[in-house]
Amino acid sequence: MALRKILTEPNKILRQKSLPVEKVDKDLQNLMDDMLETMYAAPGIGLAAIQVGVPKRVIVLDISRKDEPKSPLYFVNPEIANKSKNNSTYEEGCLSVPGQFAEIDRPDKCNVKFLDYYGQPKEIEAQGMLATCIQHEIDHLEGILFIDYLSKLKKTMIIKKLSKQKKELERIVV
Ligand code: NI
Repeated sequence: MALRKILTEPNKILRQKSLPVEKVDKDLQNLMDDMLETMYAAPGIGLAAIQVGVPKRVIVLDISRKDEPKSPLYFVNPEIANKSKNNSTYEEGCLSVPGQFAEIDRPDKCNVKFLDYYGQPKEIEAQGMLATCIQHEIDHLEGILFIDYLSKLKKTMIIKKLSKQKKELERIVV
């Protein structure tokens, strides 16, 4: 397993649409292992493959609390089959939008069809934080970030801030 570099906004790669996985093989499992390790190290509770620069429809999640045992979830080719009409609101952040948070409304329940770590077809009904996280991650597969739901003004401000932070990080004084 290895840590991968997490891409941050602004970055064109994050805006790409990810492609369906044709086969869940050892290489894909290695990618999922790396993604999980990278997510835990960040630390974060969800990561899409495109965030480490791989345009494949793969997501890892672990929403267990610190005092609970780890419970990683793997979603290959996830699809939302059914969404609730009721919304819930969570304050969202994103490893690709470091240090920024905003309240986002999303359907509070959804059914998700996907392949698991072994390529087996599964379907779950997600609610609460899990439903929000899955929808946030599936958005990544479409090149969508949570800041896209904010007003143009707020979004522009956040991207400006992130661009500035990036420039400062790249500056080297020797
Ligand atoms: Ni994210």
